[in-house]
Amino acid sequence: MTVKSADPIQKVSALGMPQFPTGFVWGTATSSFQIEGATFEGGRSPSIWDTFCATEGKIIDQTNGEVACDHYHLWEQDLDLIKSLGVQAYRFSIAWPRVIPSGKGEINQEGLDFYERIVDGLIERGIEPHVTLYHWDLPQCLQDIGGWENRDVAYYFADYAAVVADRLGSRVKSYATFNEPWCVSILSNELGHHAPGKFDRKAALAVAHHLHLAHGLALQRLRTMNLTSQLGIVLNLTPAYAASETEADKAEAWLADGKGNRWFLDPILKGSYPQDVWDHYSEDVRPTVLPGDLALSSQPIDFMGINYYTRAFVSTADQQLPADTKYTDMGWEEYPSGLSDLLIRLHKDYNLPDIYITENGAAYPDKVADDGQVHDTDRINYLSEHFKAAHKTIEAGVPLKGYFVWSLMDNFEWAFGYSKRFGVVYVDYETQQRILKDSALWYQDFLKQQ
Ligand code: NOJ
Repeated sequence: MTVKSADPIQKVSALGMPQFPTGFVWGTATSSFQIEGATFEGGRSPSIWDTFCATEGKIIDQTNGEVACDHYHLWEQDLDLIKSLGVQAYRFSIAWPRVIPSGKGEINQEGLDFYERIVDGLIERGIEPHVTLYHWDLPQCLQDIGGWENRDVAYYFADYAAVVADRLGSRVKSYATFNEPWCVSILSNELGHHAPGKFDRKAALAVAHHLHLAHGLALQRLRTMNLTSQLGIVLNLTPAYAASETEADKAEAWLADGKGNRWFLDPILKGSYPQDVWDHYSEDVRPTVLPGDLALSSQPIDFMGINYYTRAFVSTADQQLPADTKYTDMGWEEYPSGLSDLLIRLHKDYNLPDIYITENGAAYPDKVADDGQVHDTDRINYLSEHFKAAHKTIEAGVPLKGYFVWSLMDNFEWAFGYSKRFGVVYVDYETQQRILKDSALWYQDFLKQQ
């Protein structure tokens, strides 16, 4: 692999950005399935995403995770790349099928060895490791027994979490149990867009409940291990705005907020499901909640990770956004003030621990220009506006402690395959060459000024 960086004369400047408090943590993020490749190596078993990719019509460009960014082999150079950005932290995920290929029981030391090398490699380079235990690559063998619909899987997850923490221990700065439970449950089991690709609301709500339970069970286990690591969870939150002041639009927006945000926030932070949404769901789709489940899911956490990309604009009358609205290559509206509104509202409505923006970033149709560089001005603009919005919330008293840009490099964007590029580093998938985009140079410069 070769890494190209721009001619210093053409350096991109981040002048004029606000100063964040001392100790504020800046990082970048990735996840296992999206970058590792080597799906048949190191004793890894198939995950539900390998199966999903092999199912016709599921991935827009018919690709899969077999090679991805080949990070499994190129990890050392990738760690150097992270270091070169000047960030203090790196968020990545552990693949359960590498660590416990049969889902439960026997441990594959080779899988743990790989992640231990990453953790030690980061620490040697002065970068804090932040681990996500589940970023969507469930062992297929567990899906074969019902996946997250099966309550037992929550208990297997807690065992798996303990195995990882036993090996990596307090070298890891933070452990997040889950990445984006809404995607794992609703997007994957009700809307069918992600593995396992079901269209079944009852299944989706059972999955969501078992994720909450699994989060609680894993926390309980990790708390007995005397770790100094911070423990928490990562939610994707999309603030819902009513398109008009009509009662109908306002009610619809509140319901959207309930289904997408509060259904996941409340069990973790309040130990209950939001009553309005509970009432909205008919009895035949509601999850089975056993006594003690919500007490487990709402144990104290040390941090809440928030992934923010866009807002929802909710209208009962098909009202459209203004014509000058900017969209990313995902078709998502660029709405930086949604980030500040969201954080300030959470701070008001919940008793929050430390908050990290664990993901924020954007896809654009990046191309390598004739000068060999990638001039992604749109991404610089997107990031700078969101950084400013985040800064505003600190001034308003929100306990925001860090920010991870999604993503370190272009990677496998799930159902969109390799067709969407989220990286601040460009990946040429033919050669595995990495090229620092202008946004990476801008981020470097920004960090130097912090
Ligand atoms: C959320 C997910 O955690 C990540 O895997 C994904 O690539 C980004 N958002 C962009 O869609």
